[in-house]
Amino acid sequence: MKRTLTDLRRLKAEGTPIVMITAYDYPSGLIVDGAGVDLVLVGDSAANVVLGHDTTVPATMDQMTMLTGAVSRAVKSALVIGDLPFMSYQVSDTDAVRNAGRLVKDGGADVVKLEGAGPSLERIRAIVASGIPVMGHLGLTPQTATMKGGHKAQARQWQAARDLFDEALEVERAGCFAVVLEAVPPPVAKAISERLAIPTIGIGSGPMTDGQVLVLHDMLGIPADGRVARYVKRYGEVGRMMADAVNRYAGEVRAHEFPGPEHVYSMDDDQVAAFESAIGAGSIEGNTLADW
Ligand code: KIV
Repeated sequence: MKRTLTDLRRLKAEGTPIVMITAYDYPSGLIVDGAGVDLVLVGDSAANVVLGHDTTVPATMDQMTMLTGAVSRAVKSALVIGDLPFMSYQVSDTDAVRNAGRLVKDGGADVVKLEGAGPSLERIRAIVASGIPVMGHLGLTPQTATMKGGHKAQARQWQAARDLFDEALEVERAGCFAVVLEAVPPPVAKAISERLAIPTIGIGSGPMTDGQVLVLHDMLGIPADGRVARYVKRYGEVGRMMADAVNRYAGEVRAHEFPGPEHVYSMDDDQVAAFESAIGAGSIEGNTLADW
């Protein structure tokens, strides 16, 4: 059964941790949904992890809509969150509503996510008023990391922690159904989680948030030699397994070990003979065609 926003509120009330993870394509959507996660984020981290950019800033609406569509076609139980990329909502409420609508109508997302408080509050209100639920994202907000002094932990001084606390209350009041807290010290994340009625989902913010999110490729170890933040736990070495598999494949092709007889389609001898006579062939390097 498809998760609902009511389920998320119930999980928070029960103290049951909410599980969120990213996915960017159909097969990974099938895998994470099959694992029973509650929320699947088609994050603009796609710009980094699948498109090879250094930051999330270059992600476009076309890319996010295509990736969200692939994931939505796979995910049947979790709520799918389409991530609004940089400059898809900053300029105007009209842009924000239109682009949120694209992720939902064309991409099949159930809800959308955007970053920040301040000017984003008006956008949150506009999108929610159009009938699309919005997840907030505070703390380290990668789209505006340059303004925040780079990709580093936020709210480590009490004044900044106090500002973040206020921002969290503001995004809740603006109508967000949940908020991501990224790279925030655990005492701050705990205080916000206890104060807000909506669920908080932490990444690099300790265990006291209502849920956790990780970037799929980071926790799976893709690529094998990828560098990850200290808060990432590797649950697999999938990148290494992929590299090993491709290395073995290349080795077997070069050693004439692949494909073997079990990997080919058969042809009856009489058909081979007729084919040989039709093309005037008798043998290939000493073998008749029928040997294959
Ligand atoms: O884009 C993303 O993957 C995110 C998560 C890190 C929360 O925003």
